[in-house]
Amino acid sequence: MKDYSKYFNKPSLNEAKKRNKEEIHRYDDAFSIPSSMENVGNHKYYFIQTYGCQANERDTETLAGILEMMQYKPTKDIKQADFILLNTCAIRENAEEKVFGKVGYVKNLKKTNPDLLFGICGCMAQEEVVIQRILAKHPHIDIIFGTHNIHRLPEIMEQAMFDREKVIEVWSKEGDVIENTPVTRANHYKAWVNIMYGCDKFCTYCIVPYTRGKERSRLPKDIVKEVEQLVKDGYKEITLLGQNVNSYGKDLEGNYGFGELLEDIAATKIPRIRFTTSHPRDFNESMVKVIASHENIMPAIHLPVQSGNNDVLKLMGRGYTRERYLELFHHIKTYIPSATVTTDIIVGFPNETQEQYEDTLSLYQECCYDLAYTFIYSPREGTPAAKMIDNVALEDKEQRLYKLNDLVNECASKQNRRFLNETVEVLVEGTSKKDDTMLTGYTAHQKLVNFKGNMDSIGTIVKVKITEANTWALKGEAVE
Ligand code: 5AD
Ligand code: SF4
Repeated sequence: MKDYSKYFNKPSLNEAKKRNKEEIHRYDDAFSIPSSMENVGNHKYYFIQTYGCQANERDTETLAGILEMMQYKPTKDIKQADFILLNTCAIRENAEEKVFGKVGYVKNLKKTNPDLLFGICGCMAQEEVVIQRILAKHPHIDIIFGTHNIHRLPEIMEQAMFDREKVIEVWSKEGDVIENTPVTRANHYKAWVNIMYGCDKFCTYCIVPYTRGKERSRLPKDIVKEVEQLVKDGYKEITLLGQNVNSYGKDLEGNYGFGELLEDIAATKIPRIRFTTSHPRDFNESMVKVIASHENIMPAIHLPVQSGNNDVLKLMGRGYTRERYLELFHHIKTYIPSATVTTDIIVGFPNETQEQYEDTLSLYQECCYDLAYTFIYSPREGTPAAKMIDNVALEDKEQRLYKLNDLVNECASKQNRRFLNETVEVLVEGTSKKDDTMLTGYTAHQKLVNFKGNMDSIGTIVKVKITEANTWALKGEAVE
């Protein structure tokens, strides 16, 4: 095998799990484009496929911004691309298998287009096992880089293009905060805004703290500046992003936390503010009050519970009990009675008993969420839960998931019906995919609405009377 060592900087889970006290470095000047790369994309196309969560979608917007600064143009046709990049997700095994399927497909494209440059980035690139598998089986991948160094894309591509060598540049150390990268946003009305990176919670099943590093907050002034610019650019909605937004600011000086940040962002007068993901452990009553007291903070909260059983929650390392979670849930409903609450649930955590699973069902019944993302537990190499011996058969886990999903549908339908005959505000995003005479958008409560209205209203917030409530969407008519 060829000696690639000069170009290699491989990931290490052992390094990634360390959390030191070292100060977080914030750079305003870490990104630049080498002169040899300034026009390298002239007459060339790029194609980025994004897997996984909103953090990846936002990273893709940065990657797109960088490529466009090098004169690349976007294409939706993978066969037209000169540079293909897969921005990957490691959260569950099936997410990874999807990526490997695409890797196989690109291998064939490379046969007919040997100049095609092919890269992998994102969370999978941070995993040792993935890098081993790529090196052994997928030599046609030219570039591999991780989540901490996306600003280095021009230099990484330069090495791969001019030295014609495979480049692996994955940093396992916690990462910095890089402020000056460009962005090409995918949507003209709604924008993602990172408020923090990484996660220090180390839930025992989860790979994210290893792939995204230490929790680190952007400075409030940088976040507010970004939002003010979005307001000037005509954006109507922002979603603040972090793995655990409620612990925002813990690494900053003073007592400035998520509640204070929400206040400052509300003051920018951006019409709609959303945020994800909330962690029940750090979500306090004062944050709920801030959310309740601002018209432009949307009454929609994603509050992952994962399990309704205390022993399972303890094994998962979630840091709260069923009772504490329910207390928070009811606080939210007290201060914001109409709030939409959604959740994430894992069934079949190692050795979960039928009784423990039933606790999840009963909690679900009590909260009757607007929506839930439900998953079968998937062992992630290097995490503590992956070492637990699991005595539950996959078939049983599947049955648990199906039964839970029946309840999810029942509650989704019930929660949608509360808007029947109501007049709601919808940010109009475009025409419906299924019927181009209908408009589509989301309400403040994050409900999808298809409705009859004026085509000129795309990009604005309009009033819509709801005439039909289905399990996954509402129907209505614009009110003049
Ligand atoms: N197996 C199954 N689901 C997982 N999640 C995170 N890690 C795993 C895993 N190993 C789920 C959690 C989390 C959501 C983003 O993905 O429910 O909230
Ligand atoms: Fe994963 Fe837990 Fe961090 Fe969420 S809070 S990213 S589930 S470790």
